[in-house]
Amino acid sequence: MCGIVGAVAERNVTAILLEGLKRLEYRGYDSAGVALFSNAGVLERRRRVGKVNELEQSLAGDPLAGRLGIAHVRWATHGAPTEQNAHPHFSNGELAVVHNGIIENHESLRERLQGLGYVFTSDTDTEVIAHLLHHKLRDIPDLAAALKATVKELHGAYGLAVISAKQPDRLVAARSGSPLVVGLGLGENFLASDQLALRQVTDRFMYLEEGDIAEIRRDSVQIWTAAGLPVEREVVQYREGAEAADKGEFRHFMLKEIHEQPKVVQRTLEGRLGQEQVLVQAFGPQAAELFAKVRNVQIVACGTSYHAGMVARYWLEGLAGIPCQVEVASEFRYRKVVVQPDTLFVSISQSGETADTLAALRNAKLRSPKEGGFLASLAICNVGISSLVRESDLTLLTQAGPEIGVASTKAFTTQLVALMLLTLSVGQVQGSLEPGVEAELVEELRRLPTRLGEALAMDSTVEKVAELFAEKSHTLFLGRGAQFPVAMEGALKLKEISYIHAEAYPAGELKHGPLALVDSDMPVVTVAPNNELLEKLKSNLQEVRARGGELIVFADEQAGLNDGTGTHVISMPHIVDALAPILYTIPLQLLSYYVAVLKGTDVDQPRNLAKSVTVE
Ligand code: AGP
Repeated sequence: MCGIVGAVAERNVTAILLEGLKRLEYRGYDSAGVALFSNAGVLERRRRVGKVNELEQSLAGDPLAGRLGIAHVRWATHGAPTEQNAHPHFSNGELAVVHNGIIENHESLRERLQGLGYVFTSDTDTEVIAHLLHHKLRDIPDLAAALKATVKELHGAYGLAVISAKQPDRLVAARSGSPLVVGLGLGENFLASDQLALRQVTDRFMYLEEGDIAEIRRDSVQIWTAAGLPVEREVVQYREGAEAADKGEFRHFMLKEIHEQPKVVQRTLEGRLGQEQVLVQAFGPQAAELFAKVRNVQIVACGTSYHAGMVARYWLEGLAGIPCQVEVASEFRYRKVVVQPDTLFVSISQSGETADTLAALRNAKLRSPKEGGFLASLAICNVGISSLVRESDLTLLTQAGPEIGVASTKAFTTQLVALMLLTLSVGQVQGSLEPGVEAELVEELRRLPTRLGEALAMDSTVEKVAELFAEKSHTLFLGRGAQFPVAMEGALKLKEISYIHAEAYPAGELKHGPLALVDSDMPVVTVAPNNELLEKLKSNLQEVRARGGELIVFADEQAGLNDGTGTHVISMPHIVDALAPILYTIPLQLLSYYVAVLKGTDVDQPRNLAKSVTVE
């Protein structure tokens, strides 16, 4: 998704801006650009379709230099990914603007500004911001003050940064619905949509809050709230993640992140397990009192995080006896929802900035419990400073560390761990768990990092299996019970990074339609732990074999499934059934990774996708 970097310094900032853009590449984008207030006293810009590399090469051949600048990577929403539509956008050669988000009323603003004589050179919604600000500057000469007046007329979401040739000692910024962070240097200051972009120049940050306007000069930062009142934002020293922007010994970030799972699962459990119990206070001081009141759980999330929620439904209902509904945020946010009394709203998100999930949370908070609203909100999130965390009543942070690969891997397994902690906490407080279950699962959770390590040791076996997929165009993924969402996640991974069409079904649904697709060209991937559904699953697998379908089965070592013609069984270490969804995710991640490598796709930045979907 789009990314912003800005800098005001006494040195040339071109290299800082380019390095910042490179660090944002993981978010997914289709063009890149930079604008500088040049030493000749004018605004100059360079934009390129494609990777930051191409922008860098162009600048190497024909350099731009300046001590004030903004830069952007764009993921097209309004207007095709062309050079004309790439940011920064100019107004009258005097202003340059970069913008993340969507301006919903851009059409009416465009008409009005055209009526005032402004000429548009792009199809973007962003260009209206540049011209509207230019227009405001006629009556309000100060750049920050004019920006305050401008954003009052914008509907939608934005994180934006502006520089002006007439006030070249500052850059100004505004945040509403799209994150921005100020980086503090010595005699120089910076701005970015993600602190990772600025890690090479500083480790001190100020996070802008919703509605904030900022004026950033070399030696000062001034911030105003949406109401126009001056405000101080806390300075945060950022240490974590220094190693995250480095692939280390691995060929791709995705593979590195898959292999980090034992470590980050361990971290997610740290300080949250007692001798035989989950420590409920890990969810916050008021969690125990709140969990005692919970009669229902509503989970809302997108993509991989939604799949984690689907697994949690089996756990909350099966282990804790709490009714649970799960819905994708883009549907939930626009639905007239009937809320059962005492329902806990749980949002799950790696980034904590996903537009649909945030909007769903905001809608959920509109009504108090007395007005038929939710009891409270809980965020399961990987980013402690995210909007989702700030706006929720309770939080449990997954400790996955920064995830760079667009395809979510370690975020998913740590979400599952967090959701198991939630299940056991609610069950514990309500006394609804079967005797001994909590102590057994706490013990098994402690062993989980080792189990994940064992599954990762299957790396080269799975790499071989991947060869079966290299020439295929379609696949089916099957699972039963809590393994059905695992199959969904496996299918999502395969389609997003290898571009092979993959569908997931509960294995029992096969004969109600999808079986018609099965032939020798359709590999069928199945996850088969040793549980009470195993015999049923085996019958479903027979249905596939009888139609000539090739089976790839990740099966418990005690499942009694063996290799045979058209059947490839990959033996998995035994694990207690409740934690099987976490373990069986690992070979599916490895499978999609190795298929993508064989197909030669861009594993870490698959086409058309963005890491954090901050627009609708
Ligand atoms: C999956 O690999 C994707 N990264 C995607 O489905 C992702 O899970 C979704 O966009 C939600 O993101 P979030 O967890 O940051 O809210």
